[in-house]
Amino acid sequence: IKRTKVAEALKRTDFGATVNVKGWVRTHRSSKAVDFIALYDGSTINSIQIVIDPTAFDEALLKQITTGSCISVVGELVESQGSGQSVEILGKSIEIYGLCGSDYPMQKKGQTFEYMRQHAHLRLRTNSFGAIMRIRHNMAIAIHQYFHEHGFYYFHTPIITASDAEGAGEMFQVTTKNLYDLKKDEEGHITYNDDFFGKMTSLTVSGQLEGELGATALGQIYTFGPTFRAENSNTPRHLAEFWMIEPEVAFIDLNELMDLEEDFIKHCVRWALEHCKEDLEFLNKMVDKTLIERLEGVVKEDFVRLTYTEGIELLEKAVKEGHKFEFPVAWGMDLASEHERYLVEHHFKKPVIMCDYPKDIKAFYMKINEDGKTVQGTDVLFPQIGEIIGGSVREESYDKLVNEIETRGIPMKDMWWYLDTRKYGSCPHGGFGLGFERLILFVTGMQNIRDVIPFPRTPKSAEF
Ligand code: 4AD
Ligand code: MG
Repeated sequence: IKRTKVAEALKRTDFGATVNVKGWVRTHRSSKAVDFIALYDGSTINSIQIVIDPTAFDEALLKQITTGSCISVVGELVESQGSGQSVEILGKSIEIYGLCGSDYPMQKKGQTFEYMRQHAHLRLRTNSFGAIMRIRHNMAIAIHQYFHEHGFYYFHTPIITASDAEGAGEMFQVTTKNLYDLKKDEEGHITYNDDFFGKMTSLTVSGQLEGELGATALGQIYTFGPTFRAENSNTPRHLAEFWMIEPEVAFIDLNELMDLEEDFIKHCVRWALEHCKEDLEFLNKMVDKTLIERLEGVVKEDFVRLTYTEGIELLEKAVKEGHKFEFPVAWGMDLASEHERYLVEHHFKKPVIMCDYPKDIKAFYMKINEDGKTVQGTDVLFPQIGEIIGGSVREESYDKLVNEIETRGIPMKDMWWYLDTRKYGSCPHGGFGLGFERLILFVTGMQNIRDVIPFPRTPKSAEF
């Protein structure tokens, strides 16, 4: 008979029907009269209970079906006697696909996330990671759905690129050289003098610049792809490989851009509340008791909007009132995470969209305000997370952009294609980048970014 997924079986009411479920054993409890096997298959956070009369089976074999084993069960769908689920299966026959030894690292319940990280290849089988991965999937769908509905085109920007979009030099270099032939200099250091078919190329740090080419042709586009940063930050918020969503829109101004940022995030959070109910309830119980309440709050309330200068004033006021920061507060500084947290978690207690940053702490492409000192950059700051979005209106003036590129010492010869957007029919435009994993951190209530991506790449973890 055809396989029934656990999610579907749990919803059925045609008791007496014969079903076949396949999956992995979450727990197996046995007593003299009856065995209970909780079976999961990934289709839902819930396991289905298989009730077994041990006398009808080979008892030695039954004993071997321990946590982690993979089995196929044919049985009768019945109304559950116990509390919890309303459906269970009276097991009639069991086929064993794979037994699981007692050295199985995911055997014990309630392991710490740190422990699970050390077994990243198997942690996906836990309840928590099942929930997080299903939510991650649903967020990707929410994102595509939002942009598709709003007339954006999904636009694929290259992963191998010759441009440093953020001008921060945090790129992983791509080489065509065979790894085992890398040249070494006299001191034994590897020399990276080889390149990609005659060009210096890297893994992309952002699809924005190419995205601008798309937006100035198609009107509005978004990218959604892997992004690489060779920054040596070992924090719970940074990955060397993460996924970024970057919409880019022609004719948008700063206020409209902030509206888009807020509306988009709210859509994603609302989507999670509507489509990931069981998984969120599980995380709310196991990881963060205020999770659902916080998600509902974000959907309902207006985000705070303020300029960088107003933000600095609030921080200076806090210092005067005796609040201690590790880093001194002064106009012109880049906000440290303690400053962002103060504003978002202590002062406003909700998401903040900050704009009009000092030019010197932001990227070269941001539109310069009339004061000549600030740019139309906008960051969205979230409780618990800090910066979740970074974006800006782009400088559309060819001359001003060239001036920025030159004064910042960015190699002009790499920029000709980008400058052509300003040379031929330049238009006002802007966009932003949302760090996908930071969104997932917020939506799941998880604390460490390594725990919301299946295979985290950080300076200290990329074992396989
Ligand atoms: O602020 P960032 O560097 O902005 C850009 O890359 C722009 N080109 C975006 C644009 O305007 N199209 O990065 C955008 C977002 C950050 O707000 C953060 O959420 C995420 O990407 N991010 C990271 N996430 C995980 N690990 C890292 N190392 C990250 N660096 C940035
Ligand atoms: Mg940023």
